[in-house]
Amino acid sequence: MSSTAGQSTSSGGSSTNSVLEKLGLLLVALVVLRLTRATMRFAYRHVFGPSALCRGTVDFVKCGKWAVVTGATDGLGKAYARQLAGRGMDVVLVSRTQAKLEATAEEIRAEHPSRRIKCVRADFTDPDTATVYSHIGRELHGLEVGVLVNNVGLSYPHPEYFLRAVEDRSGDADGGKAASSAGWGPQMLDDMIRCNITSMVNMCRLVMPGMVDRKRGCVINIGSTASRIPCPLLTMYGATKKFVEKFSRELNTEYGGRGKHGTNITVQCVMPGFVATKMSKIARTSLLVPSPDTFVRSALQTTGLEPVTTGYLPHSLMVKGIELAESISESMMARTVMNNMLGLRSKALRRQAREQQQREEAQAAAATDE
Ligand SMILES: NC(=O)c1ccc[n+]([C@@H]2O[C@H](COP(=O)([O-])OP(=O)(O)OC[C@H]3O[C@@H](n4cnc5c(N)ncnc54)[C@H](OP(=O)(O)O)[C@@H]3O)[C@@H](O)[C@H]2O)c1
Repeated sequence: MSSTAGQSTSSGGSSTNSVLEKLGLLLVALVVLRLTRATMRFAYRHVFGPSALCRGTVDFVKCGKWAVVTGATDGLGKAYARQLAGRGMDVVLVSRTQAKLEATAEEIRAEHPSRRIKCVRADFTDPDTATVYSHIGRELHGLEVGVLVNNVGLSYPHPEYFLRAVEDRSGDADGGKAASSAGWGPQMLDDMIRCNITSMVNMCRLVMPGMVDRKRGCVINIGSTASRIPCPLLTMYGATKKFVEKFSRELNTEYGGRGKHGTNITVQCVMPGFVATKMSKIARTSLLVPSPDTFVRSALQTTGLEPVTTGYLPHSLMVKGIELAESISESMMARTVMNNMLGLRSKALRRQAREQQQREEAQAAAATDE
């Protein structure tokens, strides 16, 4: 009797062991499968896809003759314009300042004399959006636009609490002039939405019908890693860039290779980390802060391979690291970033106070001289 009980206990134990063994094997197989998939995807996106062997990236010239770039006279926009011209495209530069438009056009013509460059002056913060986009629409009429880069964007002058950023500062000694010319105040909300969201949606509305007719094209929308990782004190900016990411992802499904319309339009959201431009106020480049040219060269290698991407491997690794830390403790990560942003804010406020003091001293000295 007791031996039968012993046998059944040991056979129960061994069947439990074999179930555990199978579960263990399944787990190992799943981990190996995920690792293999991640390695293959990485190799395709970064090595084979962009190579001549696969040609997985978009052939921009085949999309159409012209590329349209918004915010094209500085930073990333200018780098996109120059590099698309370098790949054989004629370019429409859309930006706010006429002199900068002409200077950029001259620069590109000097580098690529056979390219046609057209300048369109437009201020994307203008509240009269109907006039802004009918003007751009008229300027683009008749052009075969194959590539649209929605690059123009506004951020905060420096990290700031939401309510302080949008506060009406007309009570300041100068009637709020300094704050509003620096970009603060209630106006900032509307300007940011018009530049970061309204411009992208309207440019797609104007340009994509031609792409749909020709059944090919490419739209690159510039977002930001701020939409993926915590960005307290840049709350509005991060939220507008989340819109860019979502809008691009869904549009890519609607009009991409398998879209209902039979169109083959690539819509990509590029989400850079820091790049050395006027907006970031970082002058010195490093591995994590590339120059606009380095960044755009890398990002153009991902168009067609990745619908949503940072566009630059070191930024992708940074985002992965932050996401990993968030998966361990979201609140700890949020606090760490908040402390970091508070440090940047304090630094900016100290610099601002120093500059204000210098201005006042210069004014006082000028008054004494008189
Ligand atoms: N730099 C970064 O670290 C970074 C990181 C993540 C994402 N991004 C995104 O990348 C994009 C480009 O940023 P960036 O750093 O290259 O900027 P940037 O160097 O400041 O250049 C901005 C460009 O946009 C134009 N522009 C600005 N306001 C405009 C307006 N109201 N209407 C028309 N044109 C206007 C500027 O022309 P004018 O000088 O004539 O105004 C300039 O050509 C933005 O969407 C930004 O959010 C940048």
